[in-house]
Amino acid sequence: MAQSLLTRRSAILGFAGATLAGTALAPPLGARAAFNLELEPPLRNHTRTSGIRYGCAGAAPNVQSDRILLEKFAIEANIFVPESSLKWNATEPLPGKFDFSEGDSIATFAARNAMLMHGHTLVWYTAIPDWVANLTTGQEAQAALERHISTEVARYRRKIWAWDVVNEPIEPDDRLIDDHRNSVWLRCLGPAYIDLSFRLARAADPQVPLCLSEYGIEYVGTKPQRRRASLLALLRKLREQNTPVDCLALQSHLEAHQSFDHAELTGFLREVVKLGYRLLITELDVNDCKILGSIEQRDRVTARHLAEYLDIVFSVAKPLSIATWGLSDRSTWLKQYWKRADGSPLRPLPLDADLNRKPLWAVLARYLTGQERQPT
Ligand code: G3I
Repeated sequence: MAQSLLTRRSAILGFAGATLAGTALAPPLGARAAFNLELEPPLRNHTRTSGIRYGCAGAAPNVQSDRILLEKFAIEANIFVPESSLKWNATEPLPGKFDFSEGDSIATFAARNAMLMHGHTLVWYTAIPDWVANLTTGQEAQAALERHISTEVARYRRKIWAWDVVNEPIEPDDRLIDDHRNSVWLRCLGPAYIDLSFRLARAADPQVPLCLSEYGIEYVGTKPQRRRASLLALLRKLREQNTPVDCLALQSHLEAHQSFDHAELTGFLREVVKLGYRLLITELDVNDCKILGSIEQRDRVTARHLAEYLDIVFSVAKPLSIATWGLSDRSTWLKQYWKRADGSPLRPLPLDADLNRKPLWAVLARYLTGQERQPT
């Protein structure tokens, strides 16, 4: 029977709102850290009780040489986030010439392993081909967005858990109107590019939850404070315009040497949820570049940092999903930009480079069970 237009979307958005009623609280996994973590159920197993899916980002199977890592993806996650395969430079390298080979290989792998894809990302300032970067008029920018978004979203209908429609629209350092990030989209269409992008995505798939994705809102300091304020103002404006945005995708690229602004972050998230947005954690990693000590000491610090963050988020609302930006320390984007003083590899992800579960994994498992702190 054909699903009603909004059944699946409202089910996804509503289902996670259900709270766990009266579940006996198992001792937190951390308390059983002496147990062999390898014997604990995979992270994806908790979805059926908590309603929270777990995902991780990676390269497409047809270009991913690390088959063992790919197997771990299927064991631990029920969402596959294409790290780059669905970006504009991968899918429409020339005007109207689409290449979905990587996206399709992810969709096939996901279907075989009872996973969904997280759509990342339709409209961004970078990872775009030159022909897009060189657009100059509103008319040609709108035409490009219409063709790109309608083609890509329609292709993966019912295979996508949620779409990152507009990625990172805020950049205070660009000193532009309302702290909008300088981009070909802003130059050609003004801030209206955001509303247009979401309306095009909604028209292409009436069911899938649509996200606006941002980073850098977690910590104390003038820049995070400015980013929170500008992002909240944008989310308010989009609500006033009835722009079809369902979720805020909290990228959550954490840095273990930083301090959370508990009150400001909690207040920000509460305002976002009050505006009717659901929360997703979509690009989680915990950068330990500046954490001194042994591997055990570093892993304890990153696990504690993650627990502190998830405690704040879960105190406001249970996220629809938590995805890490990679699964194993053997492959993280961070190593291109961060180097530890002691020269040792970074340890930002749930599995170590040998694919063993780490304390970060145990913290994720604890919160994915949904038994941790409930929204207050
Ligand atoms: O696929 C080409 C390959 O054919 C070529 O030989 C190689 C050499 O240049 O480049 C490969 O493309 C690279 C692509 O990753 C796939 O590996 C691009 O150069 C490289 O710039 C791209 O970096 C990605 C970056 O986004 C830009 O798209 C990172 O892996 C990815 O982790 C990063 O992810 C972003 C999120 O999308 C948004 N949030 C922040 C996050 C971290 O920057």
